[in-house]
Amino acid sequence: MKLYLAKPDITFFEQYKDMMKEWHSSGSHIAPWFLSKSVTSFDEFCKFIRMLDDCEHGIVDKRFSSTTSYFVVNNYGKLIGATSLRHYLTLEGFQTWGHIGYGVRPSERSKGYATQMLKMTIDQAREKKIYKLLLSAYEQNIASCKIIEKCGGILENKVYIKNKNEPICRYWINALENCFEK
Ligand SMILES: CC(C)(COP(=O)(O)OP(=O)(O)OC[C@H]1O[C@@H](n2cnc3c(N)ncnc32)[C@H](O)[C@@H]1OP(=O)(O)O)[C@@H](O)C(=O)NCCC(=O)NCCS
Repeated sequence: MKLYLAKPDITFFEQYKDMMKEWHSSGSHIAPWFLSKSVTSFDEFCKFIRMLDDCEHGIVDKRFSSTTSYFVVNNYGKLIGATSLRHYLTLEGFQTWGHIGYGVRPSERSKGYATQMLKMTIDQAREKKIYKLLLSAYEQNIASCKIIEKCGGILENKVYIKNKNEPICRYWINALENCFEK
């Protein structure tokens, strides 16, 4: 099924609650970063949407870079997951998580959606003139490493980050190369 990137807005409230309930009860890792924020009411969701828009426009703590956040929907408008694109690397971003994060809700996994989402986010990066992309995944996150490699990721190294006993794999993707099938 075809997927689309959508700018997060308040109309997603019910779907967002439903997706996050599913995610929390599965106990699986939550990504990208902004899905980990606690949102318990419509009022908080409105503030959350505002925060995402602020981040996109550089209104962020100086440790972080401006970031565009996307919800991902299918052609019925169902919320499938989310991706985020950091506009540049801070030192912390360079050493750890890089430019792009993504996640698919548990009930929609293993359908090729994450691969499709990463390709769409790389397209967005190219449009923003961000051509050299760093992506990271825990070594044991086999699915994520596979997705990055399928999208042209070249392994740079494996490093340990603070307070974690499992290394992350750091990959570079050249968004200028025609390195994956469109
Ligand atoms: C990692 C994640 C994004 C994968 O999403 P997905 O939509 O299921 O991925 P895809 O369907 O595109 O699968 C990509 C590849 O990984 C493989 N894969 C999927 N789940 C897997 C698993 N649990 N173990 C091993 N391989 C797996 C698929 O078979 C596929 O490989 P193939 O093309 O060779 O068949 C999803 O599990 C998720 O959201 N996890 C939590 C958040 C996260 O870890 N995000 C990534 C870090 S930023």
